[in-house]
Amino acid sequence: KPIVLSGCQPSGQLTLGNYMGALKQWVSMQSTHDCLYMLVDLHAITVRQEPKALHEASLDGLALYLACGIDPEKSTLFLQSHVPQHAQLSWVLNCYAQMGELNRMTQFKDKSAKNENNINVGLYSYPVLQAADILLYQANEVPVGEDQKQHLELTRDIATRFNNLYGDIFTLPEPHIPEQGARIMSLQEPEKKMSKSDSNPNNFIGLLEDPKKLIKKIKRAVTDSDEQARIYFNPTEKPGVSNLLSLLSLATQTPVEQLVPAYEDKMYGHLKSDVADAVVALLEPIQTKFAAFRNDQAYLNKVMREGAEKAQAKAEKTVARVYDAVGFIPRP
Ligand code: AQP
Repeated sequence: KPIVLSGCQPSGQLTLGNYMGALKQWVSMQSTHDCLYMLVDLHAITVRQEPKALHEASLDGLALYLACGIDPEKSTLFLQSHVPQHAQLSWVLNCYAQMGELNRMTQFKDKSAKNENNINVGLYSYPVLQAADILLYQANEVPVGEDQKQHLELTRDIATRFNNLYGDIFTLPEPHIPEQGARIMSLQEPEKKMSKSDSNPNNFIGLLEDPKKLIKKIKRAVTDSDEQARIYFNPTEKPGVSNLLSLLSLATQTPVEQLVPAYEDKMYGHLKSDVADAVVALLEPIQTKFAAFRNDQAYLNKVMREGAEKAQAKAEKTVARVYDAVGFIPRP
């Protein structure tokens, strides 16, 4: 089975964007792939986190993975900081990545513009840690939103450079980009993606949000103010309406083309209330399961412990090969 690896940052509450773009595909890949899914807490601290909030968001994230259907019997489910090999390989790869390459990363440019008072070295070398995450497990496929394509390209470049120097150490990963759900947009500013750390909470829908609150957010979503208030799918002309149609399509598992005709003579309000109903129907069972997992700390500990052990056993092998390749002496 092909190996697949992915993760979300516990940098806030996971959103509907994370669900549609990541978790939903992860669940379905469990039957066809050898899956490793993590919460990337090492990545999360590239932006300043309040320690207690990071702690809670990590446990929430873990319980949410489980509630969404990630099965620790089928997949390796773990916290990145529990497997020290991520940091070890990341250091080595830092020495094989070029400043010029990292300077081109658009996510760094975006994130440093948003965090002007904390442009730290970790934020800059974030894509190198991501490369280490992927290469440690010799992943064949990485399911990513479109925004992550550039980082995966960099991973391949670093791996190729390393392999050319030292032989076949790393597997080159391929991106696995879902056709739909690749990019869920912000509710108030539909030209940018929905992000969990957005400073305006009306821009995103958290997976754990109270249904009444999320219905309000959807009803307040920006629609498009062209002259004819028609409902059709065209993300350039109608970014707000198209985003709502995408959400409805994903939440009801119905292709957009099949949805649109029903809205021919309807108003934006109709669409919004259908989206709200569909999102509530999608999230309610997830929230119920989440509550059960989140209250069972012993079970969460078991999942974390076993996941980290399974992941580490694989990661150690890669680090040993890499250390040997660069000339480090094995600890006697
Ligand atoms: N809006 C989105 N639409 C589709 N997919 C998305 N993903 C994130 N937002 C959307 C996918 O979720 C996975 C994990 O993302 P992440 O938590 O590592 O970081 P991110 O991509 O930076 O997500 P956020 O919510 O925007 O986090 P913050 O605000 O902390 O930076 C990835 O596969 C991503 O593509």
